[in-house]
Amino acid sequence: MLLRRVFSAATACAILCAGFTACSSQKYPEGSVEYAYDPEAPSLYEEFADYFDVGSAINPWDLTEGTNEYEIITNQFNIYTYENDSKPDHMHPSEDVYNFENTDKLVEFAEQNGKKVRGHTLIWHSQCPDWFFYDENGNDASADLLVERIKEHVTTIVSHYKGKIDTWDVVNEVLDDGYGLRFSDWLRLVGDYDGDGDDYDFIEIAFRAAREADPDARLIINDYSLESNTNKAITMYNMVKAMLEEGVPVDGIGLQMHVGYDTDVQLVRDNMEILAGLKEINPDFVLEVTELDMNCYTWGNEDIEVDLTDEFVEQFDNTYKELFNIFLDYAEEGILKTVVFWGYNDGASWLNGSPAGRVNHPLLIDRDLKFKSAYWAVINTPSEREAQ
Ligand code: G3I
Repeated sequence: MLLRRVFSAATACAILCAGFTACSSQKYPEGSVEYAYDPEAPSLYEEFADYFDVGSAINPWDLTEGTNEYEIITNQFNIYTYENDSKPDHMHPSEDVYNFENTDKLVEFAEQNGKKVRGHTLIWHSQCPDWFFYDENGNDASADLLVERIKEHVTTIVSHYKGKIDTWDVVNEVLDDGYGLRFSDWLRLVGDYDGDGDDYDFIEIAFRAAREADPDARLIINDYSLESNTNKAITMYNMVKAMLEEGVPVDGIGLQMHVGYDTDVQLVRDNMEILAGLKEINPDFVLEVTELDMNCYTWGNEDIEVDLTDEFVEQFDNTYKELFNIFLDYAEEGILKTVVFWGYNDGASWLNGSPAGRVNHPLLIDRDLKFKSAYWAVINTPSEREAQ
């Protein structure tokens, strides 16, 4: 079994030529970063099946049958998030217009192939059309009007996909990076709607409407930097704890996990531990990794081209591997259910091009659709663990 994982058709020759033994299965030839695309390569989601679902953000054009892209996403993943097409600006561009067409196609693809879908996202401050926040006279919407719109928006979309979309990011990025809630238009206009002293009523209203529209969908509060910003993780813990105690139907927290190749993995573990504490309030509470990728640049390093030295690649691969070992630990504790990459090949990642000209390599498959050594480092983690 261990051998099958490593010695896929394209890699066996290279590894044998380099004189490796089966025991050093996760090592690769000196200076080699990547391996040719291999349709016989093992499947990420199958290798992790005993632990969690493995998914990817994709776009509508990835669903073209007969392409390598289609083959990769079908073989490698069992859960999908649209990178952009299920966001408010796509799904509900004006008050009377809903666009279900693209997300319907993803749902249909998932149904035909026995896969799952994450809906991203219902309420967000970004990629959200302005009409939500104004009344017919162009003034700020009243709290009553915005609350009605939230209910209508959430109910219409979640009902449309009742029984078809497994998980919803009901709200996205509602926390501030410093302290407390992000000062979005949702917060500014709805505020403490029920007068009970807390300000997260727009969140509460969205979750309650989503639960009513599809009682079986998993409802997630999704945010970034939860794995690295401990203040933010604690703020999230406290807010969700209060909501759970009030009966707000939050089923789990999504950690986006846009990390760097040099991320502090112990901090990732520690912050996940904080959030995992919510299981004490609700034994069925889950954590999901919703947008995993690994930036090859660090903040403040504006080099246009990262140097993929052996040393760099080794660090990159090891960080991925250590993260997946953390994920496996939390899966074994019964709290981590899903790991989704934010894209599946380097060329299509949002991390390219900002600043202009930047080429990034944040995923497990390169821009020529070759499986990188990081892919093998990740896919071997369950078997290495089981062999110990
Ligand atoms: O579709 C238009 C196109 O018509 C236009 O010509 C072009 C000009 O710039 O823009 C295109 O839209 C872009 C869209 O991606 C589709 O490519 C937007 O400008 C661009 O802002 C948008 O970026 C997306 C970003 O969210 C928006 O905030 C990224 O693709 C997407 O990966 C990113 O995803 C977010 C998650 O939703 C939430 N967490 C963070 C994550 C990364 O930023």
